[in-house]
Amino acid sequence: MPRRKKEQGKVSRDRKSLKHPVQILKGMHDVVYPEVAYFEQLRSVCQEVASRYGYGFLEVPVLEHQDLFKKSVGGTTDIVQKEMYAFKTRGGDEVALRPEFTAGMVRAYIENGMSNWPQPVKLWTWGPAFRYENPQAGRYRQFWQIDFEYFTSADPIVDVEVMQMGVDLLKSFGIKNVCLELNSIGCWGCRDTYRKQLKNYYRSKKRKLCLDCKSRFDKNILRLLDCKNEQCQPFKTDAPQMLDYLCKECNAHFKKVLGYCEELGLGYVLNPFLVRGLDYYNRTVFEFFTQNSENEGGGAKLALGGGGRFDYSTQLLAGPETPACGFALGVERIATLLGKDPKSISEPTVDAYFVQIGEPARVRVLGLIEKFKRCRVRIGFDVGRESLRAQFKSADRFHAQFAVIIGEKEIFDNTFILRDMVSGIQETFPIDTLMDVLRDRVK
Ligand code: HAM
Repeated sequence: MPRRKKEQGKVSRDRKSLKHPVQILKGMHDVVYPEVAYFEQLRSVCQEVASRYGYGFLEVPVLEHQDLFKKSVGGTTDIVQKEMYAFKTRGGDEVALRPEFTAGMVRAYIENGMSNWPQPVKLWTWGPAFRYENPQAGRYRQFWQIDFEYFTSADPIVDVEVMQMGVDLLKSFGIKNVCLELNSIGCWGCRDTYRKQLKNYYRSKKRKLCLDCKSRFDKNILRLLDCKNEQCQPFKTDAPQMLDYLCKECNAHFKKVLGYCEELGLGYVLNPFLVRGLDYYNRTVFEFFTQNSENEGGGAKLALGGGGRFDYSTQLLAGPETPACGFALGVERIATLLGKDPKSISEPTVDAYFVQIGEPARVRVLGLIEKFKRCRVRIGFDVGRESLRAQFKSADRFHAQFAVIIGEKEIFDNTFILRDMVSGIQETFPIDTLMDVLRDRVK
């Protein structure tokens, strides 16, 4: 092709691509106002509650070896088999974006020698996790989790402390009607016996199960119990229940958990079908709901969070035996609930809004901002705006008590005008008294 024609072809291709902007990936979402304000609010409540319960903060990487999740979450789980963002790096490492935090937290516990720290070790973290799920209301491919893990105690009272903290957190976020569902899935020993019973029960019904359950029958029979598909529901009613197969030790543990809940007045609902979708759990498992946490799309009800005991997980990763218990909460699901009650979030406010007229005043305002860094007066400004009307509108939006107005005359006289935004009364002061005047006037 002659060179000019080739270039023309390239230009028209470029123009075409301009008409097709690159869009966000399916199932991902930007966190913008007001959701971002809920995120910030949730994080600061977490910090407060975490320190009350003695948890330290920890960051774990977004990217880990695939093996970490295969070994701890479980190679036959939906999360690992169907939902993990897994790929090979240029160097040939098989890695995955974390689908959850617990596996990384356990790896960090082992790798940082935390078994030698003063025990118990209580850790929390927060950040995005990734699951290649079918996007729908409350279900994203990148979503945020708040994660709390309590290492080194097999005592049933710890299960209750962890669950109580989850309820406490959700209530501190302002969520009403928090409901805790609870079950025990026993230890490796008694769960094996139960699995066999469940298989015997479902064998004759296998033909009538949904496709997913047919494949779970061999790979992960327990998951048949939390299948949400309509056609599988009728078989659950008569299915054997784990609680009837708990060994002596697991039974005693669970009885103590229920006893402590009652003593503490921690309300719960026993759900014999609660098995959780991750393999590392043993004994106590639980999920948090609100009374109205139905899927907005009309589907199955969505949990705000879930967790349980995971006493085997350090061993699964070749670490020292370390009983542990924890939970994670879904940040978007909580933010959505808060969004239904607009009063639950405070709007951004400032005490004084700087309004400038003309180029020299713009520069002066920018110079003044620096001085307010360590002052208790909260200020707002936008030197990018020239229109007076737009600046006053902004001052209103931020509910400013005062406007500090600087125009050409004020630059010349070295003064500023203080306007009370409610009464409209204006007074003029020397510029070098600005900080004192504001400190004095701001309520
Ligand atoms: P999980 O039940 O898989 O547990 O997730 C915890 C919470 O994360 C869910 O209850 C839900 O609120 C939120 N979540 C999960 N998947 C999605 C999604 N696709 N979109 C939006 N939100 C979602 C765990 O991840 C365990 N690691 C919890 C744990 C901690 N167990 C012991 N320690």
